[in-house]
Amino acid sequence: MALFLGIDVSTTGAKALLVDEAGNVAGSATTPLTLSTPRPLWSEQDPHEWWDGVMTSIRRVLDETGVSGAQVEAIGLTGQMHGLVLLDAQGAVLRPAILWNDQRTAAQCDEIRARLGKERLIQITGNDALTGFTAPKILWVAEHEPDIYARARHVLLPKDYVRYRLTGTYAMDKADGSGTLLFDLRARDWSQAVLDALGIPRDWLPPTFEGPAVTGSVSAEAAALTGLRAGTPVMAGGGDQAAQAVGVGAVRPGIIALTLGTSGVVFAGTAEPLIEPQGRLHAFCHAAPGRWHLMGVMLSAAGSLQWYRDVCAPQLSFDQLVEEAAEVPAGSEGLLFLPYLTGERTPYPDPLARGAWVGLTVRHRRGHMTRAVLEGVAFGLKDSFTLIQQAGLGAVEQVRVSGGGARSLLWRQILACVLGVELVTVTTTEGAAYGAALLAGVGAGAWPDVESACAATVRVTGRAEPVASQESAYQQLYQQYRALYPALKPTFDGLAGL
Ligand code: XUL
Repeated sequence: MALFLGIDVSTTGAKALLVDEAGNVAGSATTPLTLSTPRPLWSEQDPHEWWDGVMTSIRRVLDETGVSGAQVEAIGLTGQMHGLVLLDAQGAVLRPAILWNDQRTAAQCDEIRARLGKERLIQITGNDALTGFTAPKILWVAEHEPDIYARARHVLLPKDYVRYRLTGTYAMDKADGSGTLLFDLRARDWSQAVLDALGIPRDWLPPTFEGPAVTGSVSAEAAALTGLRAGTPVMAGGGDQAAQAVGVGAVRPGIIALTLGTSGVVFAGTAEPLIEPQGRLHAFCHAAPGRWHLMGVMLSAAGSLQWYRDVCAPQLSFDQLVEEAAEVPAGSEGLLFLPYLTGERTPYPDPLARGAWVGLTVRHRRGHMTRAVLEGVAFGLKDSFTLIQQAGLGAVEQVRVSGGGARSLLWRQILACVLGVELVTVTTTEGAAYGAALLAGVGAGAWPDVESACAATVRVTGRAEPVASQESAYQQLYQQYRALYPALKPTFDGLAGL
């Protein structure tokens, strides 16, 4: 049976996942990655570490499954979006990659709006200038590291650096390309108008491809390093949110993908390039050819729980921590958590926003604090879900939840009550890497198109229903949550100015 390899360069790990033609996972290996925060608001990673991690994971998954490189028919790539990788003319990395959750570029976002006009920018790219996107990062390097900028010749995104090391070719998929803020959303390619306005040379950017298209093949050197067969085709794949959506079958309108990863995402596929006029939702190309999507992104979703566990209860497992939260009533007895630990994007594009617990009393125990974190993240996702519901996409048929945080039944139940909808889990728990493997399979002809691949592989495995009594308690609490950001905004600005 043919096997497809999905490779995911996420913020926390480099994953290699083998999927067979029936959609079964044959094996998976992940190598952890380190994150560097050299200054407040900064977030960087070393691209060499991605490549080392990917090589290790590929060798391990082949080893552990006893699969030979020759059995891998095609490879699909996915990874964290928006991160800036700058290479010189020889393909050498010029500086650490500046990641999606880096918040240093507020001034450059203002500059981009000033040069293009906010309305025109949104009309062309589908998006407002946000600190997470790639374009402001390029302007930041031009301004703060002119020597590096002068040597730059190639701009890539994280997974496309891995593609370059795997194949020797510079290429990108259209879903990830549209997350750079340099894309013409309707044309599904680079916008010359935006590039000209920002003074970025067109030839720094690679050609872009639809998700299942072949972008190159494994080089002899990479084959020797990984155990793969030289010549194995490498498909474009997609940015992690688009690939994740493929993995859970959120391709056609009506199916919403809700991802509880480090970031939290509410994702809706669209048949047309729809735009939210104020740019509060991201409008990007889908990894499925000729499709687009809208999504709301909160920056610290499961990332909030991870931070809280690491700092406040490192001796406990996530399961132990969440067990304590299950003992606490819905609403955490009046304790609210604001999850803006790394600033926020949707619905408040604010790099200076911060986290907070509000309402602490001596009655509150660790279980309350944990539950408040789970509930605060759910409220943050409701903000995005509401914007998606208001975007004129038609009826929501089904919400499919995935990502590390979705493994918690309690968190899924809280989310169902806060959103007021049934949530389903699906067969595929391997996230974006699974979607990337499906895209590779479509490219190799195992399925005629992305929708058929999803129909053949994605099945509902569980349901979390809203509980009426909790739903109404959460509706009231959500109103209090909504009031927090406007009330605290002057404090956030004041703290940033200290
Ligand atoms: C999406 C985004 C994040 C990263 C996380 O716009 O910035 O979801 O892709 O990996």
